[in-house]
Amino acid sequence: MRKKLVAGNWKMHKNLTESQALITEIRGIVRDEFRQNDAEIVVCPSALALASSARLVEGSEIQIGAQNVNENKEGAYTGEWSASMLKSAGATHVIIGHSERRQYYNETSEACALKNKAAIAEELTVLYCVGESLEERESNQHFDVIKDQLEKGLEGISSEEMSHVVIAYEPVWAIGTGKTASSEQAQEVHAFIRGLIESKYGLNIAESVRILYGGSVKPDNAKEIFGQPDIDGGLIGGASLKPRDFFEIIKAAR
Ligand code: 13P
Repeated sequence: MRKKLVAGNWKMHKNLTESQALITEIRGIVRDEFRQNDAEIVVCPSALALASSARLVEGSEIQIGAQNVNENKEGAYTGEWSASMLKSAGATHVIIGHSERRQYYNETSEACALKNKAAIAEELTVLYCVGESLEERESNQHFDVIKDQLEKGLEGISSEEMSHVVIAYEPVWAIGTGKTASSEQAQEVHAFIRGLIESKYGLNIAESVRILYGGSVKPDNAKEIFGQPDIDGGLIGGASLKPRDFFEIIKAAR
């Protein structure tokens, strides 16, 4: 049985003070309402708020993730942060290859493979994102695009290292648009991704790797999405900034 995982991606929202208030509110709800066997919870604030957020969730069920990492161990890379820096700030997870980074910062799947390696070397769990654009979906290229992103992004990742990998399928056309993939559309792609993992790593790993869905997940659609056999939780943007909505989504994974 795969344990479900729900991760909140705050993107570039909330300054330090606001981040502390938000994580404190989420922590309060989780403390009062979390049940044993609920989904694993990860919150990904800005890098600026990582360390203080990690301190504020100590001893709770909430884990902290970053939204990006540099592929190098250290060096003259102004404005960047390494996996060991993230780890020392208290992060246990990192989002890699989010479509916004692919789109606005020209991150390629090859670059993501190096980031995945660097993060795993520090024992961080990566949430590796894949997903097609609207144009690619409409021209029926989505399976090819996802296959390419997955094969290139996991290049050099061994079977042992796959225990540190979570895949997130986020169709670009569903992010922040209010348009969700139908649960059938999402399930179809998740099953396809699991099949690709099986062909590369074998059945056991394919059965144990978690594949999250992301893109306009809200309290009112989460249950149906999470009810699909190959959907193991979600990567939540907008709704993760609203503590009550975020926890309703976590409950939908019960
Ligand atoms: P929304 O939930 O706001 O659509 O964002 C999804 C996302 O990009 C999470 O990484």
